[in-house]
Amino acid sequence: MSDLRAAICGLTPIAARRPATTFFGRVPISHAAGYAAHPGCRMVAVADFREDLITAFREAWGDTWPAVAGYTSVDHLLAEAQPSLLSVCTPDNRHAEVVTAAAGAGVRGILCETPLATTVADADRMLAAVKAAGAHLVVNHARRFDPLFHLVRDALRLGEIGSLRHLRCYHSGPRAMLFRNGVHAIDVLCFLADSPVVELTGRLEAGFEHWDTYRGDGGHDPASEPTATASLVFANGVTASYDGVRTRDRALWFDLIGSDGVIRLFERHAELVSQGTTRTLVARPYDAVGLAAAVFELADLVQNGGDSVSGAANARHVVEILEGILRSSHQGARPLALPLEDII
Ligand SMILES: NC(=O)c1ccc[n+]([C@@H]2O[C@H](COP(=O)([O-])OP(=O)(O)OC[C@H]3O[C@@H](n4cnc5c(N)ncnc54)[C@H](O)[C@@H]3O)[C@@H](O)[C@H]2O)c1
Repeated sequence: MSDLRAAICGLTPIAARRPATTFFGRVPISHAAGYAAHPGCRMVAVADFREDLITAFREAWGDTWPAVAGYTSVDHLLAEAQPSLLSVCTPDNRHAEVVTAAAGAGVRGILCETPLATTVADADRMLAAVKAAGAHLVVNHARRFDPLFHLVRDALRLGEIGSLRHLRCYHSGPRAMLFRNGVHAIDVLCFLADSPVVELTGRLEAGFEHWDTYRGDGGHDPASEPTATASLVFANGVTASYDGVRTRDRALWFDLIGSDGVIRLFERHAELVSQGTTRTLVARPYDAVGLAAAVFELADLVQNGGDSVSGAANARHVVEILEGILRSSHQGARPLALPLEDII
C-alpha cells in the first residue's frame, strides 16, 4: 500500500474530531477519521490560525500519527510538508484561497468542505487552478458518499417508480440555512434528477429581503442567514421544489414522484410506494461510508485517475443554483435561466 502524505487546513470538529469507539467501531465523522481509516494515508501536517487547535489535534491523534507538523500558515505547510492530499476545512469564504494555493503548490488531491465557494466566480477560479495543475478536487457533499442515496438513485434508474416527474425536499430546523446546510439538500436534488438545472425561481425567508451576499464567514449564528424556498427545472424536464422552513426541530426528507409510484427518502431509510404496496429500502453499508468513503475516493483518483461521484463541476453547479436563488429572490422571485449571466 502506498504512502500518501495527507494534511488538513482548518481544525474545527468537522476536520479534527476523534470519534468515540462504539460497538460498531469508529464512525468516521471527521476528515481526520477518514484519513485514519485509509491504510495508505499518513497525516503529516495540519494548519490553523489557532495554535490551541493544533495542540488539541496532536493530543487527540498522537497515538495514530505521532509526528504531525503544525502550522499557522497554510502556505508554510504547503512549502515544507509537501502533502499529496489536503482537506480544506476553513470557513466557506476561505475555501477558494486555500484550494488555489494547494493546487499551485502541487497537491494532487484536494477534499474541500461544502459549499465549494460563496460565489460562482470563486468556484470558477478554483476549478481553473485545479485543472491547470492536473489535480483532483472532491467536495464533501456528504450524501454522495451514503449508500442509501445511491440505492434510491439506482431504483430511479431502474424505473421502479416509472419515469421521474417531480422531486420535493422538505428541510426544516433552527439551522435550515440555505447556503450552509441547504447546500446538501440542493445537491441531493441534483444527484437524484441526474441532470443540470436550467431554470429556477427562489425566495429568501421573510426578513432577509436585503440580504444580497453570502459572506460565508461563520454559520455559527443561524439567525444571521436565511432559509429559502425554490423551484427548479432540470434539463431532462424533471421539476423540483425546495422548502426550507425555520422551525424548532430539524427534519429532512425528499419525495420522488414518478409516473408509476413514489419514494419518500429519509436520512436512514426510504419507502417506495407503487401499485398499492409499500416497500422499505434500507441500504447495505459500504466498507467505507461518509468521510472515509470520500478519502478512499480521493486517494484512488490520485493513484488511478477517473471521475469523482462528488466532483468540482457538480459542486460549482450547486453554488450556481444557490447564487441563482439569491438573485431571483432579489428580483421578486423572477424565473432565471441557468447558466447564470454576468459571472464576474
Ligand atoms: N459537510 C458537513 O456536514 C459540514 C459540517 C460542518 C461544517 N462544514 C463546513 O466545514 C467548514 C468549516 O466549518 P466550521 O464551522 O468548523 O468553520 P469555522 O469558521 O468555525 O472554523 C474553521 C477553522 O479554520 C481556520 N482557518 C480559517 N482560515 C484559515 C487559513 N487560511 N489557514 C489556516 N486556518 C484557517 C480557523 O482558524 C478555524 O479554526 C465550512 O466550510 C463549513 O461549511 C461542513
